[in-house]
Amino acid sequence: MKQFLSELKRTHSCGALSLQDKGKSVVLFGWVSIRRDHGGLVFIDVRDREGITQIVLDPKKSLDLKKVASEVRGEYVVAVEGVVSSRPDGMVNKKIPTGEIEVLASRFEILNRSETPPFVISKPQDVSEETRLKYRYIDLRRPALQKNIMVRHKVNHIIRNYFNAKGFLEIETPILTKSTPEGARDYLVPSRIHPGKFFALPQSPQILKQISMIAGFDKYYQVVRCFRDEDLRADRQPEFTQIDVEMSFIVPDDLFPIIEGMFVDIYKEILGINLKTPFPRLEHGESMRRFGNDKPDTRFGLELSEITDLVKGCEFKVFADATKAGIVRGLVVPGKYSLSRKELDDLAVFVKTYGAKGLAWVKIAPDGWQSPIAKFFDLKLQNKINERMRAGESDTLLFVADRFDIANDALGNLRNHLARKLNLIPDNLWNFVWVTHFPLFHYDYNEQRYVPAHHPFSSPLPEDRDKLKKDPGAVRGLTYDLALNGSELGSGSIRIHDQELQSEVFSLLKISKDEAKNKFGFLLEALSYGAPPHGGIALGIDRICMFLCGATSIRDVIAFPKTQKAVDLMSDAPSEVSQDQLSDLRIRIIPVKG
Ligand code: AMO
Ligand code: AMP
Repeated sequence: MKQFLSELKRTHSCGALSLQDKGKSVVLFGWVSIRRDHGGLVFIDVRDREGITQIVLDPKKSLDLKKVASEVRGEYVVAVEGVVSSRPDGMVNKKIPTGEIEVLASRFEILNRSETPPFVISKPQDVSEETRLKYRYIDLRRPALQKNIMVRHKVNHIIRNYFNAKGFLEIETPILTKSTPEGARDYLVPSRIHPGKFFALPQSPQILKQISMIAGFDKYYQVVRCFRDEDLRADRQPEFTQIDVEMSFIVPDDLFPIIEGMFVDIYKEILGINLKTPFPRLEHGESMRRFGNDKPDTRFGLELSEITDLVKGCEFKVFADATKAGIVRGLVVPGKYSLSRKELDDLAVFVKTYGAKGLAWVKIAPDGWQSPIAKFFDLKLQNKINERMRAGESDTLLFVADRFDIANDALGNLRNHLARKLNLIPDNLWNFVWVTHFPLFHYDYNEQRYVPAHHPFSSPLPEDRDKLKKDPGAVRGLTYDLALNGSELGSGSIRIHDQELQSEVFSLLKISKDEAKNKFGFLLEALSYGAPPHGGIALGIDRICMFLCGATSIRDVIAFPKTQKAVDLMSDAPSEVSQDQLSDLRIRIIPVKG
């Protein structure tokens, strides 16, 4: 083995050879993907990150070849020396770039053996994700995952090139730091030197990037890991990566083209697609009205309509009651997609998962509504509602009457669900949308207080500033999100750079002076030493890559992800630590009861 590596150097990757190389003597290294014994000849597909090459072993050529041909198994690591030859007619595989050639081995050595893998690499669907994550190094050998990780590498590279060329500085901020409020729980790191004190892992570098502006760096970016102890989903991980950006002396209009330009470069280089800029913009209020959420999927219709004003005092009590402290909204399913009773019942179950109390439905017939609730609506009101919803004969109307947030959430999700169910989403559309003017705060019904919709450092719209005291829920922010095909890719704002205003916002959020001093005192202090107007954004690189790779989970674009339950199955982290380590940190574990 040693001999092979020192005598022969790799000439090509396993994805490089084509008919043009016919007759060349080559050296390849890789893993055995498949071994097929065809009586006389043994065919071995050797795989590396660039592709697969078919090797032909003729056991009759030498005793050495005969020996390895019988010994070699899947996932063995091998070295091959041989001559490139064209495949015989009928053996060409048009599906892979190397499908027209094969390498006739003169030397074939096993560099390392492998246990029988716990699953067949080419059939990931036959095995649970748990098993794949436990043996992630084998899972990662799959060509699809190799491609994803390589795409991710390229994306990082494009991002860095882009911002470097525009005069941004990449400034690294600490991982051992103080809690930054992004709405999740912190991961804490106990300090040995200061018993009873903790670092927090950053939920984002928010405060430090703002302080970098105060420090005069003007344009900052960082490809940065963030940590959030929150409930996980397909598009959330406890640690994830942002492209984090901050600039001084800007308004949103200065920032948007910069971010759009970054996506133009990424899409051009990765997918060969020319994105159209500027991306459309939508104010938050309009997005909620038309789509029921702040990350609208604009690839299809099914937009929502408001009928609250029309059903005030109507005979259907559910609607009439909802108008007092909520809304009644609906959407139209065009007549050509007729929905069965069973399907309507299923949709009602679906909206209930978002807290809605029910889903009212109506089919429009020539002589009026057909529906269990039709009797509560006279023809005049039926027609008014049809007209408002731009609905006609044979269409189906679906309504939710509820608290503002619940009705929107239920209908927004119903809209996306129906679009998938009815196949309304065209392929190959990349609908980026800027959503702007978010409310700065929303009311937390559980905690009975206002909480920041984004984080507490975002600036109110100048024209809404005087509402801060009287009507905080009505204050809009200089805030923006970037959505793509119904997902949130990024979020940002123009920040508060005035210390007094920042203190006012903290007190509105019921953050006491002491708490503000303790948590954000360093920011408040920094703001009082000449803070420039500034703003920025952060975008999730995992999500960006998930879209580019056509993956359905961000786990597929992260080399070593955690499971839905926030564990690393391969290393078995988190895990217990020794009593000595705990003693050093002066930590005692309270056993969980039951
Ligand atoms: P925000 O909290 O909205 O803003 O995060 C910005 C973007 O980061 C991505 N993201 C995540 N990706 C994977 N897993 C997660 N758990 C996760 N959480 C967030 C999303 C999201 O849009 N400091 C502010 C930005 C700013 O104001 O400049 C911030 O972090 O794509
Ligand atoms: P009920 O009077 O409760 O039998 O409801 C009649 C219809 O209205 C049923 O189809 C319910 O699913 C629907 N419904 C009940 N509550 C709501 C609601 N809050 N919003 C929309 N439809 C509802």
